[in-house]
Amino acid sequence: MAKVTVHFESGEPDAVIEFDPGRAPFQHDGRAGSLLDVLLGHGVPLEHACGGSCACTTCHVVVRRGGSQLSEASEEEEDMLDKAPGLTPTSRLGCQAVIEDQEAEIEITVPRHTINLVSGTHG
Ligand code: FES
Repeated sequence: MAKVTVHFESGEPDAVIEFDPGRAPFQHDGRAGSLLDVLLGHGVPLEHACGGSCACTTCHVVVRRGGSQLSEASEEEEDMLDKAPGLTPTSRLGCQAVIEDQEAEIEITVPRHTINLVSGTHG
């Protein structure tokens, strides 16, 4: 089993998801087994304005732990991340970062501005 702990800077309650990565995809947005896929598939919200196709920055997350257990960022992802508000050295696009380790223990923060950026476009 893998585990993802999600902290929301927006003040939403933290979430902990335990799941079997082998069962991906869990829903239809983002790469199969990506953070976005896992979160949405377990009822944990993460914005994804472009539907998980690496064409926005609303799924920006900051990886606090376990970054090496995620797929490497593609050049496309890096380019898109450059536009993300509040970019950090461990920032990833949730729809692109795939959890590759079956026993992964990942901890992420969903930045507050990610939520603010899209407020009004989702409801
Ligand atoms: S949802 Fe748009 S880049 Fe991830």
